[in-house]
Amino acid sequence: MSDLRLRLGRAFDFAASQVKATIERTPDYIPSYTREGRWKHGGDVWTDWTSGFFPGMIWRIAEHTKSPDWRASAEHYSRLLQRKQHDRSAHDLGFIFLSAYLPWYRLTQDPAILDVVANAGRSLAAQYNAKGKFLRSHVGADSLLIDVMMNVPLVFHAAIASGDQVLYDQAIAHCETTAKILVRPGGDTPQEAIIDPNTGAFLRHSTQQGYAQTSVWARGLTWAISGFASVYTLTSDPQFLEVAERCANFYLSQTAPGEVPPWDFNVPQGPERFVDSSAGAIAASALLNLAELTDDPQSSRYRTAAIALLDTLCTDQYMAWSTPDWEGVLLHGVYHVHKKLGVDESTIWGDYYFLEAVTKALRTVES
Ligand code: GLY
Repeated sequence: MSDLRLRLGRAFDFAASQVKATIERTPDYIPSYTREGRWKHGGDVWTDWTSGFFPGMIWRIAEHTKSPDWRASAEHYSRLLQRKQHDRSAHDLGFIFLSAYLPWYRLTQDPAILDVVANAGRSLAAQYNAKGKFLRSHVGADSLLIDVMMNVPLVFHAAIASGDQVLYDQAIAHCETTAKILVRPGGDTPQEAIIDPNTGAFLRHSTQQGYAQTSVWARGLTWAISGFASVYTLTSDPQFLEVAERCANFYLSQTAPGEVPPWDFNVPQGPERFVDSSAGAIAASALLNLAELTDDPQSSRYRTAAIALLDTLCTDQYMAWSTPDWEGVLLHGVYHVHKKLGVDESTIWGDYYFLEAVTKALRTVES
């Protein structure tokens, strides 16, 4: 067996054992980010966007192991979220339902599960502003976040499931607005655009989680790579593949092979420029997807970069296996620097995208 395969296999086994321990320690508790390595701490969350990732990890483990026990657990944890399908106040339903319900539908083709996905997509579309042609964020009626690119695939799924052309066109319009206003020609992205909700006029760039108003928050950039790549998969529209590649090329221009990114690319060198392993995990997973969508030499470049990044994440520096009593998988993730939430901690989305990338890589690396 190749050394890489052994390292990925060890990382998978550790992630599965951490998830199992969390289920046994706190049944039905859905973690978000750790505080000093513990998932359950009563700290704030900045919106409820993370609850699909723990069931999503269980689905990944169930798919990889083909174990009926993991499958039953995945269904159980996903069911805990079912009521959220009708929440018309959130921009984050894609994170939740694409992680927890889409794998379930893909496995079973059960129309009742597809109904839940479609209902959630229609609920998300309630955020659509027709003047500005975008799905507003929870921050306000004038706020367009790059993060929403990870949620808009849910609207496409709802539109395709129900043959709803209006919904489909809204989803396309959101992606085009984001590409035009938030993605710069060089592929870098600020986190937020402020748009007049009455006229649709773009007013300025801004940020919620980045270092500065116009800086490149690393996780936002990786949301853009992953989100535009997913939208290309759903639409086959080459303009979205071009945007995903432009963002990926910017990301790769800012990081050395195997380097885990800083939490924001504009933070000056020094102690404030610490890494966000969750952005690294999302990048690895997104680059593996992009490699499937493009031809060589770009395809090989994306895949090589993803594997190098994963290989770094699989080392003692990032894996929590040597830190006694640490409950997450990946060390050194970041949630919200300004609100002092989950800084240098494990995050459930970092663990989820890491596991997703590891299982994808395990399917393709030579044995
Ligand atoms: N707002 C979603 C995130 O923290 O990435």
